[in-house]
Amino acid sequence: MGLFPFSKSFLVLFLLALLLFSPTVSGIGANWGTQSTHRLPPEIVVRMLKDNGIQKVKLFDADYDTLKALGKSGLEVMVGIPNDMLSTMGSLKAAEKWVSKNVSVHMNDNNVNIRYVAVGNEPYLTTYNGTYLRTTLPAMQNIQTALIKAGLGSQVKVTCPLNADVYESSNTFPSGGDFRAEIHGYVSQLVKFLSDNGCPFTINIYPFISLYIDPNFPVEYAFFDGNATPLNDGGTIYTNMFDANHDTLVWALQKNGFGNVPIIIGEIGWPTDGDRNANAQLAQRFNQGFMQHISGGKGTPMRPGPVDAYLFSLIDEDAKSIQPGNFERHWGILTYDGLPKYLLNLGTTNSGSLVPARNVKYLERKWCVLKPNAKLDDPQIAPSMSYACGLADCTSLGYQTSCGALDARGNISYAFNSYYQINNQLDDACKFSGLATVTKSDPSTGTCRFGLMIEPYYGGAQQKHGYTKTSLALILFLWTIL
Ligand SMILES: *[C@@H]1O[C@H](CO)[C@@H](O)[C@H](O)[C@H]1NC(C)=O
Ligand SMILES: *[C@@H]1O[C@H](CO)[C@@H](O)[C@H](O)[C@H]1NC(C)=O
Ligand SMILES: *[C@@H]1O[C@H](CO)[C@@H](O)[C@H](O)[C@H]1NC(C)=O
Repeated sequence: MGLFPFSKSFLVLFLLALLLFSPTVSGIGANWGTQSTHRLPPEIVVRMLKDNGIQKVKLFDADYDTLKALGKSGLEVMVGIPNDMLSTMGSLKAAEKWVSKNVSVHMNDNNVNIRYVAVGNEPYLTTYNGTYLRTTLPAMQNIQTALIKAGLGSQVKVTCPLNADVYESSNTFPSGGDFRAEIHGYVSQLVKFLSDNGCPFTINIYPFISLYIDPNFPVEYAFFDGNATPLNDGGTIYTNMFDANHDTLVWALQKNGFGNVPIIIGEIGWPTDGDRNANAQLAQRFNQGFMQHISGGKGTPMRPGPVDAYLFSLIDEDAKSIQPGNFERHWGILTYDGLPKYLLNLGTTNSGSLVPARNVKYLERKWCVLKPNAKLDDPQIAPSMSYACGLADCTSLGYQTSCGALDARGNISYAFNSYYQINNQLDDACKFSGLATVTKSDPSTGTCRFGLMIEPYYGGAQQKHGYTKTSLALILFLWTIL
């Protein structure tokens, strides 16, 4: 006998038992948004998701090419209905059409593993001034009816991702949680619908936003290292905002008689640029901390058990509105072209780090910069710069951003290049009244990356029929003259 007085078969049994009785890990999901000037081809993204062991994906629409690429991938899919379609879905006929075209077809013909329909996206956000308060629930009800009619009632569940300010606490403790007073009726009706139909409550939780809007927010409380001053809620100790916020929701649900409704974390993450608190170090700290936090399957004080969550986000989106802030285009754990931004161990790959996208096709290796002999006091500089930044993406410029250390010339070049790349390196997009020139040497320095655009993606729909854009135009032309 050696050190271990076990037989091999005992060890096997022991390991098997460990496997069977350890809490089920529901796997990590990711949000896949497509508000980009140049989107990665869906096949490349699906491969990247699989390479990274991400088992679930949440979409914001039901794009045909995206769903086609997800066919047979085995990935669980949440498809979305955008807010501007909610009132249309008030018609049962329209809802049935939506389900038929955007769910049934993909599940039946394409083997897409659709599990949820997200009806609307944060429709109760205060910035919408109540626009969707009356249309959200009827849309959910009609989609539910349509799913049942399509025979998918048990496989596909309806939900509605909500922002965390649909609830609040009367006393800053989770136990004081209830739905926000002004919309209490709407939220409780929505939750009753979820409860009646066995559907989950989907919530987006953002400690970063709390830190962004409140300079006095205790920084450590945003993270998971246990360094924050603990919050003692009647003996339950909270040292991170995620747990406290999540449990405020649990209390609110309980108080209204829906304590058993399952919860999905629809979005959680940290951006890497565009704000002093948005950088790779803090994003790494937050996302790795979150993964660690949920990895044991211990859950939160009020909801022990596995946490079902979707990281926000998979890739950067350079065409998102920056109305919420410049960070909005930098939520990805990977860049717009599928490169990992920092070391992140999702616990799903052998390497313990993110795997980049494969076979990404780039445009030529060239950049647009300010001419070396251009004068900084040239009157055309300011209008050129604001033109470029208005139409392209300058959210990496400014105080404490990834390109914050550039000098004035670097700043201008960055703006020119962004415009040039977004316009597919068209010669005309590197003119700027003769101030700009094309260079073959990469102007990137330190943390500041001068992007090189990926090839534009035109979608698979027309290629499927072997048409090019010109041949389609020709067909249309012939059609009109015949
Ligand atoms: C299916 O979803 C797409 C993308 O979100 C949308 O444009 C289209 O209108 C939907 N189809 C129907 C029949 O509603
Ligand atoms: C909400 O109301 C404010 C102030 O009245 C207005 O500026 C804003 O455009 C409105 N937003 C929407 C989405 O209707
Ligand atoms: C560079 O541009 C940003 C954003 O327009 C600005 O905040 C910053 O002051 C500029 N820096 C220099 C050195 O001009």
